[in-house]
Amino acid sequence: MAESNSYDEVPYESHPYAQTHPSRLAVVARLFGLDPPPVETARVLELGAAAGGNLVPVAEAFPRARCVGIDLSARQVADGDAFIKQLGLTNVELRHASITDVDDAYGTFDYVICHGVFSWVPTAVRDAILDVCAKRLAPNGVAYVSYNTYPGWHMRGMIRDMMRYHAMRFPDAKTRVGQARALLDFLAQSNRQEGAYSALL
Ligand SMILES: C[S@@+](CC[C@H](N)C(=O)[O-])C[C@H]1O[C@@H](n2cnc3c(N)ncnc32)[C@H](O)[C@@H]1O
Repeated sequence: MAESNSYDEVPYESHPYAQTHPSRLAVVARLFGLDPPPVETARVLELGAAAGGNLVPVAEAFPRARCVGIDLSARQVADGDAFIKQLGLTNVELRHASITDVDDAYGTFDYVICHGVFSWVPTAVRDAILDVCAKRLAPNGVAYVSYNTYPGWHMRGMIRDMMRYHAMRFPDAKTRVGQARALLDFLAQSNRQEGAYSALL
């Protein structure tokens, strides 16, 4: 049984990301000389799918595709389930599960998507993401895994560290988020110099 995580307390805003869309992945794969599976009938797996904001539009666009999303947060999965029911879609399902639990019973997928997860999870889960890509991908399938890279991400990472340091003394996730945002506002308002740092703030 999957455990719970802090996203149960403070759910993530679940949005679509164009760069992860199977149509886009198929075009990129073709440009690299591969022969990707047709997206209209694709089996798509999303790891860390939150409430399905990225996956549900894929299922809606391709009624003959079969989409499975998994996430560790029961609350986000329940929110996504309600959304799917409301839309009446039958080709997409969200499962409350950990990436580390994806096994042979899941079958294989033409597209595996993992957006906004790799950089935030422990090493064992990172290894599991790559393992799922290696084992669950059908022949000619395409996997997309996003991650934050240095040096470009350092500026954001530095601000994240400041927010976490300030917020760590507060007990619950909601207060920590509020306090982190308050620090960000304070930094943005205090910094009057022009430049990349103030623009980012
Ligand atoms: C930063 S959010 C990104 C959500 C979404 N993919 C996006 O890009 O908007 C990270 C997500 O990964 C999920 N997650 C973290 N560890 C996980 C695990 N071991 N198994 C499944 N989901 C996990 C969290 O519950 C959360 O929904």
